Amino acid sequence: MADVRLQRLADLDDAMLTRLGETLWRAMKDLPKSYSNRDAAIEEAFRFRDDDRLIIVAMQGDELAGWIGAIMHTPHMWELHPLCVEPAHHGRGVGRMLVEALEREAADAGVGAIWLGTEDETGATNLFGVDIMPDPLMALQGLELKSRHPIAFYAKLGYVVCGALPDASGPGMHDFLMAKRIAATAV
Ligand SMILES: CC(C)(COP(=O)(O)OP(=O)(O)OC[C@H]1O[C@@H](n2cnc3c(N)ncnc32)[C@H](O)[C@@H]1OP(=O)(O)O)[C@@H](O)C(=O)NCCC(=O)NCCS
Repeated sequence: MADVRLQRLADLDDAMLTRLGETLWRAMKDLPKSYSNRDAAIEEAFRFRDDDRLIIVAMQGDELAGWIGAIMHTPHMWELHPLCVEPAHHGRGVGRMLVEALEREAADAGVGAIWLGTEDETGATNLFGVDIMPDPLMALQGLELKSRHPIAFYAKLGYVVCGALPDASGPGMHDFLMAKRIAATAV
């Protein structure tokens, strides 16, 4: 989208962080657990003042279309968290543009890989409600999507499922871990 401008934020004043939190809340509020509470979403945005975090925003004019964050855990691996696009902008390529912008930042910083967690809180996967704890890796071999889920979005962008945190959001609600190599060469 030619009219969307991507920008890494340096000045994180209270007004901008509140705006970011509200976008996070609007993007996630229909999900049962993730930031369905406005105050919790704004609190999460304010954590991005920490030195180990970065934010890239997608602006359309003065409007905030979405944003992506990263937690720079180590020089080798960053966590993509969170990614949120305003519902009115869904399906227009903003999410893809934000992920690609973060990947460019990571590549410039010499980061080897990006990972993320994406939860199934709604029954979009066949492992929802299933006790995967006895052998999560075996359960993941049979992972299937039953309806739209960000796993499919990230897979289109080259991320692969590399693990799961069983029951991360409650019994039978797992957090699926995905990763993508960023550095040009493998080991
Ligand atoms: C998931 C999300 C970030 C996608 O952003 P978006 O701007 O709507 O996505 P894009 O338009 O860039 O989509 C890129 C591709 O992924 C596909 N896609 C997007 N969301 C998808 C989903 N939930 N399930 C399956 N495919 C999806 C699009 O159809 C498109 O496919 P195409 O390239 O073949 O046309 C956005 O829907 C969102 O903010 N959702 C709520 C918050 C959330 O779930 N965040 C991720 C938590 S880990």
